Amino acid sequence: MEGRVALVTGGGRGIGRAIAVRLAQEGAKVAISYRSNAAAAGETAELVRKAGAGCETFKGDVASSEDVEALMKGVGGAFGPVEILVNNAGMTRDNILLRMKDDEFEEVLATNLKGTYLCTRAVLRGMVRARWGRIVNISSVVGLLGNAGQANYAASKAGMIGFTKSVAREVAGRGITANAVAPGYVETELTGALPENVKERILGQVPVGRFGEPEEIAEVVAFLAGERAAYVTGQTIAVDGGMVMQ
Ligand SMILES: NC(=O)c1ccc[n+]([C@@H]2O[C@H](COP(=O)([O-])OP(=O)(O)OC[C@H]3O[C@@H](n4cnc5c(N)ncnc54)[C@H](OP(=O)(O)O)[C@@H]3O)[C@@H](O)[C@H]2O)c1
Repeated sequence: MEGRVALVTGGGRGIGRAIAVRLAQEGAKVAISYRSNAAAAGETAELVRKAGAGCETFKGDVASSEDVEALMKGVGGAFGPVEILVNNAGMTRDNILLRMKDDEFEEVLATNLKGTYLCTRAVLRGMVRARWGRIVNISSVVGLLGNAGQANYAASKAGMIGFTKSVAREVAGRGITANAVAPGYVETELTGALPENVKERILGQVPVGRFGEPEEIAEVVAFLAGERAAYVTGQTIAVDGGMVMQ
């Protein structure tokens, strides 16, 4: 992917950071977006530059169409049209359904699903014109299995899978692929707050017997984002130590 322009949303921390660095190692120029943690985004940018690639950071909410428009203008101005889009920005607001508030449901759907829709729609025209593009959406095993206390998050992540398949069908003839990656449990700030007993219960469901590393998710994303994955589209690849065996 030498010289390709990649955008990783939520690239400031966690899995997004590992993806940004991995794409840089493959030779891509990397733009990362973040919502509020500028310091973390700056650290990622340093790591990307150390890997030998150009990097720019952009602040904005992926759930806002104005912010996404500004993001794409910024990336376009710095590097040119986005050729590789990784929809990674995501959040949780867990609650059991009986107690779930409308804003908990809406905020999670807005970031995870609407954000994916807005960013994908914004880059698609350029990809169609170039007759080349790679879209990788970071879903979750929770979107495949469901999870008590995460009806909002599971709905958003399952929605991303249906979205991915539909986009893949729409643009398959134009040299553009769209795939989803469904990570299992990976230690980041997103999962760090889970109580120890919940972590142990999850670990009991992982055949490999350990949690995943962000770099292990990034490895699969790098494959899907590259030239060699041209014949893979509309798929959801679980990277989860065997939690989901399809
Ligand atoms: N960790 C896991 O075990 C796991 C498992 C399955 C799937 N996933 C998925 O993998 C992705 C990354 O997860 P992670 O664990 O790396 O999360 P994380 O450490 O919490 O990082 C989330 C990133 O997304 C950004 N972000 C959140 N909401 C945003 C918004 N509305 N607009 C723009 N950026 C936003 C954050 O920006 P700031 O830094 O500015 O806050 C941050 O850079 C998510 O989609 C998550 O659902 C994670």
